[in-house]
Amino acid sequence: MQDLDGIVAKALADFAASADPASLENAKARYLGKSGELNAFRPSSGTPEERKAAGAAFNAAKQKIEQALEARRGALADAKLNERLAAEALDVTLPGRGRGSGGLHPVIRTWQRIEAIWRSIGFDVADGPEIETDWYNFTALNNPENHPARSMQDTFYVDLKDEQGLPLLLRTHTSPMQVRYARMHAEKLRQKAEWAAIKVIAPGRTYRVDSDATHSPMFHQVEGLWIDEDISFADLKGTYTEFLRRFFEIDDLEVRFRPSFFPFTEPSAEIDMMFKSGTLKGRWLEISGSGQVHPTVVRNFGLDPEKYIGFAFGSGLERLTMLRYGIEDLRLFFDDDLRFLEQFS
Ligand code: FA5
Ligand code: MG
Repeated sequence: MQDLDGIVAKALADFAASADPASLENAKARYLGKSGELNAFRPSSGTPEERKAAGAAFNAAKQKIEQALEARRGALADAKLNERLAAEALDVTLPGRGRGSGGLHPVIRTWQRIEAIWRSIGFDVADGPEIETDWYNFTALNNPENHPARSMQDTFYVDLKDEQGLPLLLRTHTSPMQVRYARMHAEKLRQKAEWAAIKVIAPGRTYRVDSDATHSPMFHQVEGLWIDEDISFADLKGTYTEFLRRFFEIDDLEVRFRPSFFPFTEPSAEIDMMFKSGTLKGRWLEISGSGQVHPTVVRNFGLDPEKYIGFAFGSGLERLTMLRYGIEDLRLFFDDDLRFLEQFS
């Protein structure tokens, strides 16, 4: 028959061997439960002195077992907590994953600057559809079907037809916005209503079948148009030169108007620019097409070309951005390389 010390030793060993709370509680029942092993030693016979001594020994044994149980309970709970903490551990030496602050694409920066500058010279800002009809993109701009000038702009067609049965296309330039805007404002101009001037820029996306270091299939242009009774080529020269000085934040530049051809302007000119200092010093750079709006186009605005006259221009936003920041390859704008793009934000 086991003695009390033997029971205590066995209980302590069993508790120590219990690897989880459930088996520990089972072990507890084996020793401290109603029919547990310890109960057999509850003193029930003998003299009062004998009972007192046996009772003290019983209580001491019970207390040892209970203490061991509590200690083991605590140890198992700690182990569980430590396990959880280890599983959820944070490596505080890892770099943070905070949100980077976004930035504007350099071409969008140029777009916003252009709007601000032209607005301050008194131009309205308009936008219009990127999917255009043949009429607005070509015909209304004095560029009829089968005219050889159409081959200057290789076009993306869309699988949809307009009212005339002609395929819709992705606009090859922002010039159709001249016609759309002027037709909306022609009536007010004829009535000499206040704020009736046709004096607008229209920045936006344009598309051509083009792809090399200075041409992309999708690019941005800004159209400019100023029509009234007395707007001359001198106004074009003055306003565009002022725009360039403000855009490049440099007074030290020269601007030249070089004869060119566009069906929708007559005379037509390429606007070239030369910095007089910096890395691009001394080189003439083409910036924009321009010209005095052709009488046929003025008629398509809904205005009498005998009475109304003015100028238009169309400039490439990528080109202006490349010159402002000294970027050599336009494809960098569309590669999504953050090392490049982050330099501008
Ligand atoms: C035109 O598109 C005329 N509509 C401009 C114009 C408007 C003339 C009003 C007269 C009056 P052009 O095809 O040259 O012209 O294009 C104008 C500018 O757009 C170019 O100088 C160039 O900077 C830019 N550009 C043209 N094609 C591309 C392309 N594929 N990728 C990037 N930029 C381009
Ligand atoms: Mg050109």
